[in-house]
Amino acid sequence: MPEHTSTGHSEPDEPDTNGPAASEGYQRRHREYEGRHRADPEGLSVWATAQSTGPVQRRGRYVPESVKHPARMLPAIAAHAIHAYTQPGDLVVDPMCGIGTTLVEAVHAGRDAFGIEYEPQWSNIADANIHHAHSQGATGRASVIRGDATRLVSLVPAALTGQAALVVTSPPYGPTVHGLVRPGEGGVVKHDDRYGEDKGNLAYRDLTGLADGFAQILHGCATLLRPGGVVVVTARPWRKRGELVDLPSAVIAAGLRAGLVPIERCVALLAAVRDGHLVARPSFFQLQQVRKARSSGVPMHLIAHEDVLIFAKETSPKDGTGVVA
Ligand SMILES: C[S@@+](CC[C@H](N)C(=O)[O-])C[C@H]1O[C@@H](n2cnc3c(N)ncnc32)[C@H](O)[C@@H]1O
Repeated sequence: MPEHTSTGHSEPDEPDTNGPAASEGYQRRHREYEGRHRADPEGLSVWATAQSTGPVQRRGRYVPESVKHPARMLPAIAAHAIHAYTQPGDLVVDPMCGIGTTLVEAVHAGRDAFGIEYEPQWSNIADANIHHAHSQGATGRASVIRGDATRLVSLVPAALTGQAALVVTSPPYGPTVHGLVRPGEGGVVKHDDRYGEDKGNLAYRDLTGLADGFAQILHGCATLLRPGGVVVVTARPWRKRGELVDLPSAVIAAGLRAGLVPIERCVALLAAVRDGHLVARPSFFQLQQVRKARSSGVPMHLIAHEDVLIFAKETSPKDGTGVVA
């Protein structure tokens, strides 16, 4: 990995006191709260975020190793959320930042950002992606902290409390994901379909454990949000032995437990819209699963979107700011 001066990188439990986000002048760079957040009132709740494929969206903008992460967010999803809910100079946070998609899109849009990632293999790539974005002229500042985001408040400098305009994140969807495929002896072989082996990764928990950990992370995020700040979570249900595991509902419940107020539910398309029709881009395994189900009489459909669950910070009625439950 290249050396980075702009991307702080800490060990677990060690606050990133050298990172740009922690500098003294940091607070002055961010605007005072200007009233209740509002996405574009004309904005649609269906986000056309896959008009080009993931590889096309990333080409030249991300380092090639990014493809190794098994569950990257489409850059257009992060970019849409950032443009809808923040202004240049605002602070954007991703507590489970993987290879840094949220951070890269934020710095390209002139926002500052920091992320937390549990696995060093992904936080290193996030560092490289931020460095690459700066080499392309991105003006925002960003840093990555390696650590366990369930302990977010102990990882992040206290100066950042109440500073973030937006959190954009996505929880892991179980220990194995679709990853990539290549032809092998006797059929198709998966690769890059796992997170690391460390069982502290929330990907290794069952749905209840994942939801508990994610509620802790959202609780930490709530302390970082400024009044009127917004949390955007993308999540997709998955199937376990044919049964749908309803992660989006678990995320809403986790947000409520963290003291956040659900304010919108949107759809980020994983399919392109062409001439008024959806052109789906399923993975090999999604297609195989749906075909198998249909051939056995189960009328299963391909999932061609991510649920986007949007929360606001709950504030006290006295403030007159933000959202009151
Ligand atoms: C769905 S992926 C996010 C991908 C990211 N949006 C991107 O585009 O690269 C979830 C990430 O959460 C990380 N993770 C899991 N448990 C964590 C924890 N306790 N603290 C911080 N990150 C964690 C995983 O290693 C994984 O990279």
